[in-house]
Amino acid sequence: MSERIAVIEGDGIGKEVVPAAIDVLEALEIDFEFVEGEAGDAVEESTGEALPAETYDLVADADATLFGAAGDTAADVILPLRDAVDSFVNVRPAKAYPGVDALRPETDVVFLRENTEGVYAGHEDRLSEDLSTLTRVITTSASRELAEYACEFVADGRGPDHRDGFTVAHKSNVMRETDGRFREAVLDVAAERGVDADEELMDAFATKLPLDPSQYGVVVCPNLAGDVLSDLAAGLVGGLGLLPSANVGHDNALFEPVHGTAPDIAGEGIANPTAAVLSAAMLLEYLGHVEEGRRVRTAVESVLSDGPRTGDLGGDATTEDVTAAIVDRL
Ligand code: NAI
Ligand code: MG
Repeated sequence: MSERIAVIEGDGIGKEVVPAAIDVLEALEIDFEFVEGEAGDAVEESTGEALPAETYDLVADADATLFGAAGDTAADVILPLRDAVDSFVNVRPAKAYPGVDALRPETDVVFLRENTEGVYAGHEDRLSEDLSTLTRVITTSASRELAEYACEFVADGRGPDHRDGFTVAHKSNVMRETDGRFREAVLDVAAERGVDADEELMDAFATKLPLDPSQYGVVVCPNLAGDVLSDLAAGLVGGLGLLPSANVGHDNALFEPVHGTAPDIAGEGIANPTAAVLSAAMLLEYLGHVEEGRRVRTAVESVLSDGPRTGDLGGDATTEDVTAAIVDRL
């Protein structure tokens, strides 16, 4: 039976890089059925809804989803879409590739970010003219689930080769109750599973990572810390056009480049398709097409090292040129 892939281009360069990633997936001749859905600024303008119910259902019922980016409506699209796939972990690899000018060429880290709670749980209140508050939510169950995913991730050898186990980054010296709970739950699971885990206070980690990224491999974080620290890592590897991500749930997942709609270059056909294509490689691996995922990664790395490159990487190739080169080297 064919696997059903929901495809949501969204706005801006989403309309350029998602078709590029689909070209790469199609070249692999796997029995995929691609079904397109709409989300983002354009559909909000025409229908009043950034994420139509049909699109939510399409994603919820698919085997996996490839999403591009949404513009001003990003939060109205991506938060419900993460909910549609019941995502509890956001997987964000940041790897510097040979041939790409990176601040820290030795960077090869994968952030596993809690994806449902922390300060993003939505409990913000305006109590008076002068006072607003935010309730930070940490549960043992969500923290353990993330840690169990991390243990499987490293046991399956999906982390970077240079480091065993994982690092948990937190701030339990100050947020004793919430991050204390997070830390304890994650370290408990690691101990139960016999996985090596070390810990860092997240502020110290933010200093140590750029100074020496080679110390780190898989990094497990609460929601906000994972968002910020993974963007920091993105800055070490040569730009947003390279970074894929996955929102993984219990039996569904959504894959998307980390970048947004890039309004400054949208419509010109010059966006870097690498992040979207690497997101497609993560989708392949998630669905068990591990060999095909490896072929895509190898082709991407080969093109990055000596193939055509887009303007963000100092070249003058188009999205199509780069995509054709990747397909050619599969
Ligand atoms: P952005 O990621 O769209 O762009 C930042 C810079 O990186 C721009 O100079 C852009 O040209 C460049 N860039 C990004 N991706 C590129 C690629 N594939 N190839 C070449 N250059 C690339 O972030 P920005 O400008 O902060 O946000 C623009 C819009 O995107 C906003 O409306 C924002 O809400 C939305 N956004 C949506 C996201 C999502 O849907 N998940 C995530 C981030 C932003
Ligand atoms: Mg972010």
